[in-house]
Amino acid sequence: MNKASLAAQFEKIFGRAPELVARAPGRIEFIGNHTDYNGGTVLGASIDRGVAVALARRDDDKRNFYSRISGKTVTLPADTEPVRQSGDASWTNYPLGILAALPHFGLRAPGGFDYLAESDLPPGAGLSSSAAIEIASALAFLGATGQSPDRETIVKIGKHAENHFVGVPCGILDQGVSGFGQRGHLVFIDCTGPRFSTVPMPSGASFWIFNTHTKHALVDGLYAARHRECMSAAQALGVKLLVEVSPSTLAAAEAKVDPTAFKRARHIVEEIARVDDCVRALRSGDLAAVGKLLTASHRSSQTLFENSTPELDFLVDALVAEPGVFGARLTGGGFGGAVMALASPDFTAAHAEKVALAYGAKFGERPDILPMNVGEGAAVL
Ligand code: GLA
Repeated sequence: MNKASLAAQFEKIFGRAPELVARAPGRIEFIGNHTDYNGGTVLGASIDRGVAVALARRDDDKRNFYSRISGKTVTLPADTEPVRQSGDASWTNYPLGILAALPHFGLRAPGGFDYLAESDLPPGAGLSSSAAIEIASALAFLGATGQSPDRETIVKIGKHAENHFVGVPCGILDQGVSGFGQRGHLVFIDCTGPRFSTVPMPSGASFWIFNTHTKHALVDGLYAARHRECMSAAQALGVKLLVEVSPSTLAAAEAKVDPTAFKRARHIVEEIARVDDCVRALRSGDLAAVGKLLTASHRSSQTLFENSTPELDFLVDALVAEPGVFGARLTGGGFGGAVMALASPDFTAAHAEKVALAYGAKFGERPDILPMNVGEGAAVL
């Protein structure tokens, strides 16, 4: 997906050239599962796949949205507040959420426009196509209206759209990594603040994604349920967010917390500690230690946060038994989606194929194998 081919497509659909093209990457959640909305720390990587948006303003009040996935134009008015869409048009809730968010940040939304979105991210793999379309749309709308807020504001606009328009109570991980990504680096976010920085990725390791194409039917509801359980644990412990609790304080307060909420809280508190250990291990180039922390994160999702599935567990078990795999874990919200493995060059396509075959024999369908590279963060091209 490059600028020229998207511009050519735009011209075919709308009969004129776009004013600008913006692109935002998807992300891998490296470690820090559900820590973001608990005020904790998280590490992610922007990948070399994402969503690109081409845009040209119109003189009238029509907003035309076209996506190749639906193959249809959705036309909405520019002179009324954006309204949540359903059915075939529901993908427009991401750009509409951005349009609705802009005034909350003191920024202007464009009036009428023609808009084209194109993605090379596999949907449902937990690689955050939603944040990618939000951030690419924000850059396109801001670019077309000559406004240039700082990166942090753009990231917050994306999160606002997701929380208030799309309706998912997510944290800042996805938008933050898409906005602050850098080739060869992981993005570190301290979600209290928030503060964004990067940590160089040691050489000698690469990412593999195994997409199971499984998605729990209630995934959004389950995400929101985990969010509620974490908040209720925080309340029982007398803090605003779980980041304020240390592992020892939590252990001492077990009797105060409902047993399920306690398990969720233990996952969060220990996961935040793992993220910090992981940053140290990355800085010293200790990939074996990094890998152990990744797999420990998965085990905690499996037993304490209970957002894994038999499919994801199978992949993690199979992957860590292969040569060259430092560690493996579910990546993203969980309840289906994808597993990420961090591996040395000793792990080859043949090993990946062996894992996929074993998975297919057990579950009937093969996972997609996606070797991933860390790519640049969002930009106007
Ligand atoms: C989803 C959310 C993120 C984060 C992860 C879990 O990707 O969008 O904000 O909570 O799940 O870590």
